Amino acid sequence: MSDKSLRNFLSATLALMVGVFLAGAVGAQDATRTTEGPLGKLHADNRVRCVKCHGEAKKSEPVSMETCLSCHADGDSKALAASTANVKPVNPHESRHYGTEADCGLCHRQHEKSVNFCLDCHPRFDFKVK
Ligand code: HEC
Ligand code: HEC
Ligand code: HEC
Ligand code: HEC
Repeated sequence: MSDKSLRNFLSATLALMVGVFLAGAVGAQDATRTTEGPLGKLHADNRVRCVKCHGEAKKSEPVSMETCLSCHADGDSKALAASTANVKPVNPHESRHYGTEADCGLCHRQHEKSVNFCLDCHPRFDFKVK
């Protein structure tokens, strides 16, 4: 091989490798994003389609609390908190830090397992989040 064709060969190989790497990375990311956690599955089983949360927007935006509340507790975070007033050891929907305005996504996740946001700082608030 001449120097020039060797260089061409090497740069073509490199471009291919980068391409394969990027395709793999993007594919993996899309897969985790559209994977359903237990709550995502519950929503899907209840025919809550992607568009109900994400809308028709071309560019994806974070799902707002208002969107969640449009189907839960008649859009009222205080009513949601009232429905869990008796949950022990503490009402997850009302706290001294956030009142009733803690973002749903701090705990409830659609495309992965949900988390207990309070647990890191309050080991005794060991509630399970759907
Ligand atoms: C288009 C309506 C709709 C939207 C939007 C929606 N949900 Fe739901 N959600 C449902 C339905 C239907 C169910 C299953 C029936 C039920 O348990 O109420 C459900 C179930 C749930 C449950 C389990 C309730 C239980 O009693 O076990 C949680 C938690 C929940 N949704 C949180 C959320 C969060 C957080 C969001 C926003 C990211 C959201 N939902 C957006 C309709 C919706
Ligand atoms: C700090 C964590 C946390 C946040 C933030 C949070 N939730 Fe929850 N949510 C929980 C836990 C824990 C439960 C289960 C309570 C129980 O044991 O019944 C729950 C239960 C629910 C339920 C079922 C309620 C019922 O009456 O049984 C719905 C619906 C729900 N959440 C929706 C939301 C929405 C909508 C938001 C945002 C406005 C939100 N949650 C924010 C932790 C959270
Ligand atoms: C009940 C509401 C809900 C439904 C239904 C839902 N998602 Fe999501 N989606 C969310 C929330 C909330 C997040 C933020 C991360 C999380 O909770 O897992 C998210 C994150 C994402 C993301 C990454 C963040 C972004 O916007 O760039 C993608 C992509 C996505 N969802 C695609 C989908 C697709 C495709 C479907 C249908 C198969 C779907 N979602 C159904 C609520 C929903
Ligand atoms: C980053 C750490 C941190 C997180 C996360 C956190 N807290 Fe706290 N919380 C504290 C600290 C520090 C105090 C004590 C100081 C104070 O009273 O404000 C406290 C005090 C409290 C108290 C009053 C004291 C008690 O133990 O009864 C409640 C109730 C409470 N938090 C609820 C919550 C709830 C519910 C969540 C989840 C939505 C949460 N906290 C998340 C740090 C945190």
